[in-house]
Amino acid sequence: QTADVPVICIDGPTASGKGTLAVATAYQLGYHYLDSGSLYRVTGLAMRRAGLEADAAHEAQIAELARQLPLRFIKGQVLLDDEDVSDAIRTEAAGMDASRVSALPAVRAALLALQKSFRRLPGLVADGRDMGTVVFPDARLKVYLTANASQRAERRHKQLISKGIPATLDSLRADLEARDQRDSSRSVAPLKPAPDARLLDNSSQSVEQSVEQVLAWWQEAQPFG
Ligand code: DC
Repeated sequence: QTADVPVICIDGPTASGKGTLAVATAYQLGYHYLDSGSLYRVTGLAMRRAGLEADAAHEAQIAELARQLPLRFIKGQVLLDDEDVSDAIRTEAAGMDASRVSALPAVRAALLALQKSFRRLPGLVADGRDMGTVVFPDARLKVYLTANASQRAERRHKQLISKGIPATLDSLRADLEARDQRDSSRSVAPLKPAPDARLLDNSSQSVEQSVEQVLAWWQEAQPFG
């Protein structure tokens, strides 16, 4: 019956604004929200804490960690074993670790059921890299969100500085290009638009404009008009 629960997928590269757009869209529609990247980020954190490296030799162990994550989402906070790790998973290093663990096929498989369990009435907005291609291939609306690299680096810079996390534009841009490269070239579920995705470049759009566009597409996607 979950097939009857509407899903909107918002996929795209690092710092394209997926999270902001997905949260705002979910809010407008009163839908649930899945930040799938946070699952890979928490897995990366759990890996570090277990003293493991993100390589094929540890793939099975990391997948086991991913399958058993004592994870809860409460009021916008990410809790791991009751510890609030919301900030710890947002650092650039945590993003890099997330990207590394996410290239391991067993880890992706381990997180699949958890991601699908977010599909509940009245509906779901899910953001990530493979929401439309792998996790919710039957979603009624798939959006592939992009923005040019310098815009993305600037947004990430503002975000980090506002949280008091030090960062420089140049190193952020280099990091996000390295992450795009790995996320797009991995063998399983690489970052790429689903064939039936709508492309949205928000380089020169406000958040409100992007939300309006997605809601307009959502209207059009309704089976009975
Ligand atoms: O969206 P994000 O920056 O929080 O994602 C962190 C990393 O997790 C990203 O570099 C790749 C990986 N990821 C993924 O492989 N598939 C997803 N659906 C979401 C994130």
